[in-house]
Amino acid sequence: MDKLRKTSNIPPTTLSASISDTDTTIPLSSTVGAETSTCIDIVIDRIDAAGEKTPDKMEVVTVLISGNNGTNAVRGRTAPAMPHEQGAVVEYNISTSVLRNDLVDGLLENLTTEGKLKDKNVVLVEGGIGKVNGAICATLMKNHFNVDRLLFTGVAGGVNPDINIGDIVIGTDLVEHDFDCSAFGYELGKIPRMDEYQFKADENLRKIAMEVAIEAFGKERVWEGRIVSGDQFVASPEKIKWLRETFNGYCTEMEGAAVAHVCYIFELPFLVIRAISDKADDDAKVDYPEFVKLAAKNSKTIIEGILERI
Ligand code: ADE
Repeated sequence: MDKLRKTSNIPPTTLSASISDTDTTIPLSSTVGAETSTCIDIVIDRIDAAGEKTPDKMEVVTVLISGNNGTNAVRGRTAPAMPHEQGAVVEYNISTSVLRNDLVDGLLENLTTEGKLKDKNVVLVEGGIGKVNGAICATLMKNHFNVDRLLFTGVAGGVNPDINIGDIVIGTDLVEHDFDCSAFGYELGKIPRMDEYQFKADENLRKIAMEVAIEAFGKERVWEGRIVSGDQFVASPEKIKWLRETFNGYCTEMEGAAVAHVCYIFELPFLVIRAISDKADDDAKVDYPEFVKLAAKNSKTIIEGILERI
């Protein structure tokens, strides 16, 4: 996800010749910066050359850019097609269609895409860091790939003092620990206008994951409890104490609750499994790089085990 392509601001241009209401080739003075590989929307005559709004003349047209033309034009997208004069202002509308294509392309770049793992159809993605990346990833999994379940795994810092590096935490529910509207009287983590903020994992996936993890690592190294997420790498004993006392968090990471939040909205069954790479304390930044590989290996073991049983 961190390889998402950025959309550019393409400078407006003008019609290099007048067009009728039925033309499907739109002659443009410049197409510099415009995507050539995908459909894009252009807006003809939203404003005149002086920048004054001209809503009665505006027409949105979907085109494929080829050379200095918009070709295969679909006319009259938002209003009836009409003729336009040479010199009419044309803007590139970098909105939904292009942005969505770019997001999906960016996601696809990082996918070991739709294949089989343990004989199950899977879409595998490296989700990137932080809650927004997690949320985009989960949204595309649902909306673009139409998955029927989502397993999310990676590493986390231990918050419960009994949990050690290398241990596994299977999330019962997930809370965004940095969601704070307490100024309006809401308890910490609570999201105004939502009826839930403690997003619960799928019971069946939880049960399977517990069996797999206990078999692989032994009962004493496997935990079930709340995972708390925020856009923060936690490396302080005071913060751990706060996470424990405020939320009863078992471990902390930076994406899980955002993924869970999206799954809750879309009614998509999910499970978050974390392997502990550090104890979120003063040593966290030293422990993390040392143990992250071991933790990742442990995560992989569980995911493969779950896939074998579902
Ligand atoms: N992921 C792994 N360790 C973490 C920590 N200490 N804080 C946040 N995310 C983490």
